[in-house]
Amino acid sequence: MEYKFEGRKDSGPMWRGTEEATAKFKELQYTEADFYDHFPCFTSAKNISRFISFYELYKKTLGISGHIAEVGVFRGAVSFFFAKLALLHEPAGLTLVHGFDWFREPDGSTPAYPSPAYYYEPYERISTTVNVQGYQNHLLIHKLNVLTELEDFFKENDYLQFKIVFLDAGTYDLVAKCIQEFWPRLSVGGIMIFDQFNFEVAPGETIAAREFLPEDAVIRTLPNGWMPTAYVIKGERV
Ligand SMILES: C[S@@+](CC[C@H](N)C(=O)[O-])C[C@H]1O[C@@H](n2cnc3c(N)ncnc32)[C@H](O)[C@@H]1O
Repeated sequence: MEYKFEGRKDSGPMWRGTEEATAKFKELQYTEADFYDHFPCFTSAKNISRFISFYELYKKTLGISGHIAEVGVFRGAVSFFFAKLALLHEPAGLTLVHGFDWFREPDGSTPAYPSPAYYYEPYERISTTVNVQGYQNHLLIHKLNVLTELEDFFKENDYLQFKIVFLDAGTYDLVAKCIQEFWPRLSVGGIMIFDQFNFEVAPGETIAAREFLPEDAVIRTLPNGWMPTAYVIKGERV
C-alpha cells in the first residue's frame, strides 16, 4: 500500500526493529528467556508506547464497573496485557477480559494487508497459551464472526457490561457493528479505544466512528502514544 498521509510519518527511528537488528540479535546468541525477561532491550519504543497507552487508559477506568473487551485479538498481546493488569490491580475483583476474533485462516479471497482479515492466529494455539499460564478463568476467547455472530452473543449474554472496549479490526462494517453493540453496554466513565482512528490504513474506522458515536463524543488521543490513536470516555463532555 502506498501511503499519502499518516502512513508516511509512521516510519523512521521510532519504528520497529530493523531486519538487520533482528539478524544481529540472533548472531549474538540471546536465549528465548532473554527475549521475554529483558524485552525492552529488543522491542521498539513504539511498541513500548503502545502498552503504556493501554496502561494509562486502564488506570483511568479503575473503580468503574465492567469487563474489558478486545475485538480483533490476533496473537492476544493486548488481551493478555489487560488480563495481567487486572490480576495485578484487581486481585479480588471479577473483571474479565473477553477477546473476540474469528481466528480464520486467510484464503485466496482474503484481502491483503492491511485488511484485518489478513492477520491469522490459530484458535487452538492461543487457547493453549491461555490455559498453560492458568488464565482460562480470566481471559475468555470467543471464536466468532463479529459481523454475523456478535449480536446473537449479546442476545444470549445480555447482562454483560464493559469498562473498556478496544476495537482493533478497523473496517467500516466491523467498527459500525461494534459501536452499535458495545456502546450501550459500556459503563459511563468506561472507555472505547480505537486503534487506527484518523489513520489511512483503516479509513472505515474513522467513518464508522463519525457515524455511530454520539455527536458530542470527545475523541481524545494520548500525547505520547502511537497506536491506539484515539479513545472516548463515555459521558465526557467538553
Ligand atoms: C489487526 S488484527 C488485531 C491485532 C491485535 N489487536 C493486536 O494488538 O495484536 C485484526 C484481527 O481481526 C480479526 N478479524 C477480522 N475480521 C473479523 C471478523 N469478521 N470477526 C472477528 N474477527 C475478525 C482477525 O482475525 C485479526 O486477528
